[in-house]
Amino acid sequence: MRTIAIANQKGGCGKTTVAINLSACLAREGRRTLLVDMDPQGHCALGLAVPEEQIELSMFDALAGMNGDSVELSRVIWQITANFDLAPSKVNLAGFEPRMLDHPDRDVRLRTILESVADRYEYVVVDCPPHIGLLTYNAFQAAGEVIIPVDTGYFSLQGLGKQLDTIDELRRRSGHDVHVRVLANQYDVRTKLGREILSELKRKYDSLMCQSFINFNTKLKEGASFGQPITEYDPGSMGLRDFVRLARELIAAGGPEQEAVPPSILRQADELAARAERLLATTAPLLCDRSGEKATRPATHEEIEKKIEQIYGVSQTDDGVVFLTRAPGAADVKIAGDFNNWSPEATPMVRNHESQDFRAMLQLAPGRYRYRLVVDGNWSQDPFNSYVESNPFGEFNSVVEVK
Ligand SMILES: Nc1ncnc2c1ncn2[C@@H]1O[C@H](COP(=O)(O)OP(=O)(O)OP(=O)(O)O)[C@@H](O)[C@H]1O
Ligand SMILES: [Mg+2]
Repeated sequence: MRTIAIANQKGGCGKTTVAINLSACLAREGRRTLLVDMDPQGHCALGLAVPEEQIELSMFDALAGMNGDSVELSRVIWQITANFDLAPSKVNLAGFEPRMLDHPDRDVRLRTILESVADRYEYVVVDCPPHIGLLTYNAFQAAGEVIIPVDTGYFSLQGLGKQLDTIDELRRRSGHDVHVRVLANQYDVRTKLGREILSELKRKYDSLMCQSFINFNTKLKEGASFGQPITEYDPGSMGLRDFVRLARELIAAGGPEQEAVPPSILRQADELAARAERLLATTAPLLCDRSGEKATRPATHEEIEKKIEQIYGVSQTDDGVVFLTRAPGAADVKIAGDFNNWSPEATPMVRNHESQDFRAMLQLAPGRYRYRLVVDGNWSQDPFNSYVESNPFGEFNSVVEVK
């Protein structure tokens, strides 16, 4: 599990916007993600349409409950979309610091409670308040990585220097190291100031800068006011493109230390191994005669085709809907369908170089979905799914019904 704190003591630089939309995009990339709000302003719940009056248990209850009255973190969590959960906060979180004064473990409460959900999530994103105090220290102590969003305005560089000093101080005091990245936010290429500040950031902090940056995009602001992450509010927006790029950059960079293989991947591998074994068991008789001896007759073309059909195509597993196809010689296969607004870029399939298989796993709510494969840019129906319907272009869309 990678824990990434989004912090900057400068107010309004985009911490919550980054925390919400990065979480949503990590989830969209198939990563199970928990967003933890460590800010008593409770803006994550607001930005995700979780009604404050209905939040009975919040981060305060998970963190601060003492004398045996703390609640399990899992009781605080709300599901937002597939793969994306929120542990919301309320204004009572402001009472955490005074309540913890006598507690020697006060700096590491968050780290301890996150351990209880380590097998449920691949990413935890922590939204910090705009000041340094016990809540932010908890986030730093729990995190292996910190992202500092910097708005590309007049006072951004000053705030950034302070934030980096604070992190150095923490490293000295606690001996806990964090990997720091700086993320340019609210970048407006049309303004001279924006361009100058971005180049100054790159010049001064080159090795710390994320390659991705977030443009100023009113859709991000509107999404928050409608209580929706950009993945839902406007999947065609520049805001989505920027956050997808950031999520992919972080995924590709890997965590600061070698991580254990997540349990869900192990489960998928087990499941595929079991399928392969079943396939082998059903294919073996084709190669044997009735007495169990090796047959002289090899499996016929039709028999092999039939077996192939059984593993390729679409299947529903506990972890999601798996699309598996063969495309020998193809460099790139993507899926476009109802579930991604027919945007193939959103769902590239992962290639197995040895077998020439391409695979994707999607989290789809129950329902009926139409899709097509895009093989090296050419749209086609899924050759391993016979369930099709005609489309307005006189071709066929493949169909899957998720239960
Ligand atoms: N890239 C962006 N494009 C457009 N608006 C943005 C962008 N990033 C942030 N904003 C807007 O800027 C304002 C402040 O952002 P946000 O609340 O995310 O900052 P914050 O650092 O979390 O603030 P605080 O310090 O109060 O917690 C919000 O209105 C938000 O919608
Ligand atoms: Mg905020």
